[in-house]
Amino acid sequence: MNQATRILVTGAGGFIGHHLVNRLKAEGHWVRGVDLKYSEYQASAADEFEIRDLRTWEECLNATRGSIGAVYNLAADMGGIGYITAFHAAIARNNILINAHMLEAARRQDVKRFLFSSSACVYAQSKQKDADVVPLREEDAFPAEPEPGYGWEKLYAEELCRYYWQDYKFETRIVRFHNVYGPLGTYDGGKEKAPAAICRKVALAPDGGEIEVWGDGEQTRSFMYVDDCVEGLLRIMASDYHDALNLGTDELVSINQLVDLVSEVAGKRLTKRHNLNGPQGVRGRNSDNSLLRKTLGWQPSILLRRGLALTYPWIQQELRAAGHIGATEQASAA
Ligand SMILES: NC(=O)c1ccc[n+]([C@@H]2O[C@H](COP(=O)([O-])OP(=O)(O)OC[C@H]3O[C@@H](n4cnc5c(N)ncnc54)[C@H](O)[C@@H]3O)[C@@H](O)[C@H]2O)c1
Repeated sequence: MNQATRILVTGAGGFIGHHLVNRLKAEGHWVRGVDLKYSEYQASAADEFEIRDLRTWEECLNATRGSIGAVYNLAADMGGIGYITAFHAAIARNNILINAHMLEAARRQDVKRFLFSSSACVYAQSKQKDADVVPLREEDAFPAEPEPGYGWEKLYAEELCRYYWQDYKFETRIVRFHNVYGPLGTYDGGKEKAPAAICRKVALAPDGGEIEVWGDGEQTRSFMYVDDCVEGLLRIMASDYHDALNLGTDELVSINQLVDLVSEVAGKRLTKRHNLNGPQGVRGRNSDNSLLRKTLGWQPSILLRRGLALTYPWIQQELRAAGHIGATEQASAA
């Protein structure tokens, strides 16, 4: 995309969308951000920021008006495992409406490229039953057996993107994110993901105290720092690849190891109290990046330890500013 491209980012008030807008602005693009809400932690750098409910057709037409060249469609009703397992009907309905309307509105408005943000939740659950999981290749999404609600909707919207390319030659890109984390991400309120939730729990616990971990903590995941995520988004949008691509790291850790890493970054010794009734999601999930490397000649490379060392101090600072951590406690992050 050249410098003159006008870009729409939906979900720009959210975590990844906010970082993406910053990066696009830094590269000289004109950017419109659209969301149900403003960014919670920092003003958006977008040239225009509009509050719109993209579940409606009219608002999708409005959002895509005015010679938009590229759409990054990141708007979604989503959250961590606690949230997506609790609200199947609302999440599936809201996201079906957003994605179907946004795709058609972008096509009608003659947008040149459309990127859909899918998820590793599309992968067949029977292939994720072992903590020592075989990394997931793109074809492992079929035969379809995704996460109920959220995963089914993402997989269906992926199909819709493929149909738009097949039938209309509408230029779609499909990105399957694997667990993105970093500063400016939700860390409380019920929609937070595991890294942010654990950073919050560790920040609030006294040294020598204990924190609650959902499940036995042996469930495994890979986690991608948000700067790698944004870099991958730009590269996939610029590529000629129309089918789904993983965007994640293949650095597999258990949730217990994640807790240990955050504790180390925080300089605290903590005991884990496992809540076996807490939602855990699939037993193991990792990203196979072979196709990503082949297609882009690139893959995410920021190690989890380094990403957490950038994320934990931000969450700690937020909690301190909100009065949840004593003002006398010293920042101990590495
Ligand atoms: N963060 C991750 O680890 C992860 C993993 C897999 C997939 N994804 C996908 O990436 C995208 C961005 O995720 P995120 O982590 O930034 O989430 P986020 O919740 O921070 O951002 C999503 C944004 O969409 C907005 N939104 C929801 N409903 C809307 C509506 N009806 N109209 C307009 N805006 C609406 C929300 O207000 C929110 O600001 C989403 O599509 C998500 O499903 C994220």
